[in-house]
Amino acid sequence: MAPESVTRLDPEDSGTAAALSALLNRELGDGLYEPAWLLEDAANPAAAVWVARAPDPVGAAVARLLGPNDGEYYRRFGAVAMRLFEAGAGPVGSFEAVAVAPPARRRGLGARLTTTSLDWMRERGCAAAVTVSWRSGRAGSSAGLFRRLGMAEGPTVDGFYREESLRDGWSCPVCGRPCACAATLFTLSLA
Ligand SMILES: CC(C)(COP(=O)(O)OP(=O)(O)OC[C@H]1O[C@@H](n2cnc3c(N)ncnc32)[C@H](O)[C@@H]1OP(=O)(O)O)[C@@H](O)C(=O)NCCC(=O)NCCS
Repeated sequence: MAPESVTRLDPEDSGTAAALSALLNRELGDGLYEPAWLLEDAANPAAAVWVARAPDPVGAAVARLLGPNDGEYYRRFGAVAMRLFEAGAGPVGSFEAVAVAPPARRRGLGARLTTTSLDWMRERGCAAAVTVSWRSGRAGSSAGLFRRLGMAEGPTVDGFYREESLRDGWSCPVCGRPCACAATLFTLSLA
């Protein structure tokens, strides 16, 4: 088997985008990621899509540079989240999604996808990273991973995804639609 690698998705590589879309939709929610959206993000300088290969795609992550208006999404986590978006606080990077196929888990790929995304945010001048950990109740939740990487754990909000799962029409792999799962805020200073 070829060594595992973590690389950027090539904006012309529709085959890999389809594989990543299938992985993200199966693990995180059916309807969350279309291949075309991943290719758009791969070509967008304010976003990054990462693929972990072993040698076929077995892991995916999406990161994004946020603007001041993106803070509203995090309002339900309270002051700790809103402080990130205050004037003068500096640019914020979102670690938006990460998933590793079950047979490839517990080999460090989730950690590599996360640290690669955090390094990309640092290189782009982000002062902080923010991520929302899906508390699925299943083994393989990201909360342990984010704690291990030194991220600060913030509040947990019950039913965090309910409205967006209805509005955007995606189904949670654990509870369907609407999604009733909780979410926990994690942040990391990159300064
Ligand atoms: C969360 C997720 C991405 C982690 O992926 P992963 O590749 O298993 O992550 P890692 O291998 O870096 O770490 C997972 C565990 O394996 C352990 N591990 C890492 N390398 C290891 C190795 N070589 N040998 C044994 N264990 C190892 C880690 O210590 C960690 O253990 P812990 O959870 O007890 O702290 C994956 O479980 C997943 O896709 N979950 C479903 C989707 C999901 O919830 N995504 C996050 C949404 S916010």
